[in-house]
Amino acid sequence: MSVDSHLATTTEHSLAQRFLQVRGLTDLLASRLSAEDQTPQSMTAASPAKWHRAHVTWFFEEFVLRRDPAYTVYDDTYRYLFNSYYEAVGERHPRHDRGLVTRPGVEDITRYREYVDAALSDRLRRGDLDDEALTLVELGCNHEQQHQELLLMDIKHLFSTIPLSPGPIYVDREVDVDAGTPSLGWRSVGGGVVEIGVPGAGVPTAPFDGGFSYDNEGPRHRVFLEDFHIADRPVTNADWLEFIADEGYRRPELWLSDGWAFCREQDLHAPGYWRLEDDGWTTFTLSGRRQVVGDEPVLHVSFYEADAFARWAGARLPTEFEWETAATELGDARGNLLDPDRCHPGRVGTAMIGDIWEWTSSAYLPYPGFVAANGAVGEYNGKFMCDQHVLRGASAVTPVGHERATYRNFFPASGRWLFGGLRLAR
Ligand SMILES: [Fe+2]
Repeated sequence: MSVDSHLATTTEHSLAQRFLQVRGLTDLLASRLSAEDQTPQSMTAASPAKWHRAHVTWFFEEFVLRRDPAYTVYDDTYRYLFNSYYEAVGERHPRHDRGLVTRPGVEDITRYREYVDAALSDRLRRGDLDDEALTLVELGCNHEQQHQELLLMDIKHLFSTIPLSPGPIYVDREVDVDAGTPSLGWRSVGGGVVEIGVPGAGVPTAPFDGGFSYDNEGPRHRVFLEDFHIADRPVTNADWLEFIADEGYRRPELWLSDGWAFCREQDLHAPGYWRLEDDGWTTFTLSGRRQVVGDEPVLHVSFYEADAFARWAGARLPTEFEWETAATELGDARGNLLDPDRCHPGRVGTAMIGDIWEWTSSAYLPYPGFVAANGAVGEYNGKFMCDQHVLRGASAVTPVGHERATYRNFFPASGRWLFGGLRLAR
């Protein structure tokens, strides 16, 4: 065996293991859901769990397996049903009707997953895939991890609409006790010309070198920063209660114009899932409705609310460049990432990555020199670079290994069902 072929075998072997690990976690997350749980769509932005399971499978079939003329497509109608937004692939089922697709059923989707798992594992074992296909397998694994988080966000939203008390429980766990919010300190970060992003991000030339990043994380480029201060912990629920008590949701001077309109239209008075009950504020969690715990990071606030809070606190949101610079300085520190037995942030700590996604003031835009890949896969990120804000960090429902300091998550300013909170800067 030559050195080169030995390396290829090692790459494919580790990618095959990683593929099955990622697929196994989706199966584990879905195993706690009944067929009924997996079917409805609670709002257009959310998708049924069954759809997530099928869509991530279609991604591997469409972009990897179909490259092989010997591959037999599982069911041609699935391309229409489970394509999310890839115009280059063709027509799709309307997004808002995903919850009406009662057939194929959950068992059919399980068989579809098994079929694609076997076909892809076979090809990885045989060493049949070229470098571009291997890169697409790696992309597919990261894509599925993103959907694992979406599946949990969407199930939380669905479960929150069911009028049971304390609500359906996705994962049972102990009640958290408030140990008191640590006082907020400021970290001073020196400005100047800094480098942001990942060199060669998203370029399909180095499959599975352990350093995956999305195309939107590059090219690495220079940005000038003034000196700044960044809070040494996120904003907590206890902090947010002060904002509410100080009429933060009723004072237009704290809000951006669009934010105030959103606040009035939606009649906002507290973070998403919060409810004022006889014994105080409660929030809906994946473990049912619980008392709001003061020392946890605030969760399910929109960009508009985060921005208003920062103004109320005499501070501002960091830019994504300040955030990345400050997080890179902190190194490998991590808060809570996805633990299927918890699925909820813990007490605030000093790490910048973990527990919650943090809104930044930055619009989601291409970095200088960004070019989307050719073909359908080029639609993955680039075409969404309009009217969205960047969030940094990673949340308590982000799968372990999917987090990094350069990661750019993005949502519209009104988004509240993601696990989004904030950290102050000044
Ligand atoms: Fe997707």
